[in-house]
Amino acid sequence: MVSYKELGLVNTREMFAKAVAGGYAIPAFNFNNMEQLQAIIQAAAETKSPVILQVSKGARNYANSTLLRYMAEGAVAYAKELGWENPQICLHLDHGDSFELCKDCVDMGFSSVMIDASSLPYEENIALSKKVADYAHQYDVTVEAELGVLAGVEDEVSAEESHYTRPEEVIDFATRTGCDSLAISVGTSHGAYKFKPEQCTRDPKTGKLVPPPLAFDVLHEIEKKLPGFPIVLHGSSSVPQEYVDMCNQYGGNLPNAIGIPEEQLREAAKSAVCKINIDSDSRLAMTGAIRKHLAENPGHFDPRQYLKPAREEMKKMYMHKIINVLGSDGKAE
Ligand code: G3H
Ligand code: 13P
Ligand code: ZN
Repeated sequence: MVSYKELGLVNTREMFAKAVAGGYAIPAFNFNNMEQLQAIIQAAAETKSPVILQVSKGARNYANSTLLRYMAEGAVAYAKELGWENPQICLHLDHGDSFELCKDCVDMGFSSVMIDASSLPYEENIALSKKVADYAHQYDVTVEAELGVLAGVEDEVSAEESHYTRPEEVIDFATRTGCDSLAISVGTSHGAYKFKPEQCTRDPKTGKLVPPPLAFDVLHEIEKKLPGFPIVLHGSSSVPQEYVDMCNQYGGNLPNAIGIPEEQLREAAKSAVCKINIDSDSRLAMTGAIRKHLAENPGHFDPRQYLKPAREEMKKMYMHKIINVLGSDGKAE
């Protein structure tokens, strides 16, 4: 049993309380490899932003769970080396799907875990989320649970609406599970294809696809039911057109990739939404930069030659999110 406190990590309790009160959101960035982690820590250290490092089950399978945990421990030391005296870094399990996986992460030094039982029937979601919260809280590890189902790209518009979190359930769910934060479904979804073209309208000036707006009415109703309670938005990449174009220009094929417009995320960050999850934008920045570099330098084969510009592009993107979208810069001086 390793406590995250010995590793210099923090749980989400204080960072969320400050974010809700201050009208900003904490960035939750997924990482699977060293370059992503370096870029995240450099961006957080330079902007003095609290940050959540997210590890998914897929990341654990890809990189090895022990290695990722040690990388997060190293990230705290690296942040200090970069001159960030008091780094506020949380190590979080993203989309934990069983009690055993969540327990394993608590036991190995994670400071926060998500139990995603949102696909289970309501009572089973409550029972499993409570079991995880009861275990994690013994070690002062914070727990995110989810209510409502994020739409898949295949879903019809009408089906999506019925998956939104039901505001009338949130008080009962939060009280009975004892969760510390609640992930909700208000129109975001995972990946780089969040909406089908037929769900969008076209901007008459630019001809670009404009996605349907998030369900802010549902979000505000949830806020009214649970005043001050930390709310989490998954699937919040904005899928920047510049990275989609970069991928496509240099041999990629990402037709009609579309994300959540940043002005909507900016608005959400001012509400009780205090954690915004971003993974796909990092994948796009990295892949775009690598494709461009290799297309322009066909003789290069040292991975450092193409991973360096990829890392720089991700850092630029993370800093942009922190400063211009979430407003978390300067909140962990
Ligand atoms: O919500 C999902 C995250 O983007 C992690 O994705 O399961 O492919 O690692 P992954
Ligand atoms: P994106 O696919 O929009 O980046 O969402 C990531 C996420 O929600 C991780 O849990
Ligand atoms: Zn997610």
